[in-house]
Amino acid sequence: MAETSSSLPFRRHVIANVIALLPSALALAVLVWMRALAPLPALVAFAGIALATVIVVRRYVLSIGRFARFVEALSRGDEPDVPRFVLSPAAEELAGGVAALARLWHRQRASIDSLSASAQAIVDGLPDPLLGIDGSRRVVRFNRAARTLLGPIETGRDLAATLRQPTLLDSVDAALAGAPIDDPAEIAVPGPPERILAAHIKALPRPTDDGSLVLVVLHDMTALRRAERMRADFVANASHELRTPLASLVGFVETLRGPARDDAEAQDRFLAIMAEQTGRMRRLVEDLLSLSRIEQREHESPTGRVEVGPLLRGLVEMLEMKARPRQVTLTLDVPPDLPTVIGDRDELAMAFQNLIDNAVKYTRPGTSVRVGASRQDDGVRLIVSDQGEGIAAEHLPRLTERFYRVDTARSRQMGGTGLGLAIVKHVLNRHRGRLTVESAVGEGSTFTVLLPDNEFSTASKEPAGVQKG
Ligand SMILES: Nc1ncnc2c1ncn2[C@@H]1O[C@H](COP(=O)(O)OP(=O)(O)O)[C@@H](O)[C@H]1O
Ligand SMILES: [Mg+2]
Repeated sequence: MAETSSSLPFRRHVIANVIALLPSALALAVLVWMRALAPLPALVAFAGIALATVIVVRRYVLSIGRFARFVEALSRGDEPDVPRFVLSPAAEELAGGVAALARLWHRQRASIDSLSASAQAIVDGLPDPLLGIDGSRRVVRFNRAARTLLGPIETGRDLAATLRQPTLLDSVDAALAGAPIDDPAEIAVPGPPERILAAHIKALPRPTDDGSLVLVVLHDMTALRRAERMRADFVANASHELRTPLASLVGFVETLRGPARDDAEAQDRFLAIMAEQTGRMRRLVEDLLSLSRIEQREHESPTGRVEVGPLLRGLVEMLEMKARPRQVTLTLDVPPDLPTVIGDRDELAMAFQNLIDNAVKYTRPGTSVRVGASRQDDGVRLIVSDQGEGIAAEHLPRLTERFYRVDTARSRQMGGTGLGLAIVKHVLNRHRGRLTVESAVGEGSTFTVLLPDNEFSTASKEPAGVQKG
């Protein structure tokens, strides 16, 4: 605590003066005692010395006070002028030195502050969530990605309050105990949506300024794991789809070589079934190849110009052959001034063919399927409308998944592969198009495609998925 400015100098003055006068007083007293000096001149001499001493001591004591206030101001972060010390050049030099030291310290302090702000900005800018854990397993630091993923985090609380995964907590305990750290632990953070995270744990060689001893970095593996699962499901589904007709072919070949060797009528029947099964396998392989080709090109924008009207006319004529046996009428409604769209003609043909083919397959016999195109502000809209059984709402979001069918047996019986709408989805992704489905159970479905028109289109870049109309 600093003493008050009034009491401090007075006490200092008295003590300093007493100390300064003590040798002269003693010397004069000795001279008087030895009778070398009479008391009166001694008193006069003492008064003179005392006067001079008081003046000099006062200046020094005041200087020291000013120096103390100067240093105090520097330590507060102020930038005071260096005081002048008339009788003491050394004190003035000292004050200059202290002022330079203070300036240096301020500069370094500013650079440390800026370094620490940059470090925090870098940590905050990391796309992966990061947590700093201290020796008592408390969270002492976290970045923005961690807050986004895990919600509000309170520093100073045990990690278990933020992440309750026993495997992760065990690994952090082991790291804090100095044990070698294994591969990243994979943890599931409950959602929705549930996330799979790889937790990388890193012990620091020495604690950071906030006390972090271990860093936990979480890397989101959800998309990767989902893609892996989808690939595995896809291979399993494709193999299963091929195995069924293959097994039937193998069976018929054995029958034709054995029991039916001489049965001409059975041979005809079996060969017809075998032809149907091979057709099914061929369609499946063709659809698989088309899908893989479309996927490979999905990120290259198409450059051709496609006249949608003639394209639809050709498809409708082709599919009329399939519609006729079911007494299904196909109507086409295309205005003469329909603009062209930017696209890949073959891919668009494949997509529209799948939609019209589905409508013909799934509409009730004796009804009609309406195919139409119209000009929109932002492109060209196509609709394919049928009068079939319709699709219940819960199926709509999954309709474009590979091998997803509402009724598998019916789809197979109609010669479907379950890949048609997946092909439509990927073609539309490449064309930045959108697919929407409106369906009423028992009444029918309308599939609508919107194709953006011009090259500078601001059409949505979201992937084309099915949306409920
Ligand atoms: N127009 C439609 N009416 C009713 N259901 C449809 C229609 N279009 C598609 N679906 C349903 O969506 C499923 C997937 O279609 P798609 O991928 O073309 O496969 P599929 O080879 O079975 O036609 C079909 O199996 C069917 O259940
Ligand atoms: Mg289909």
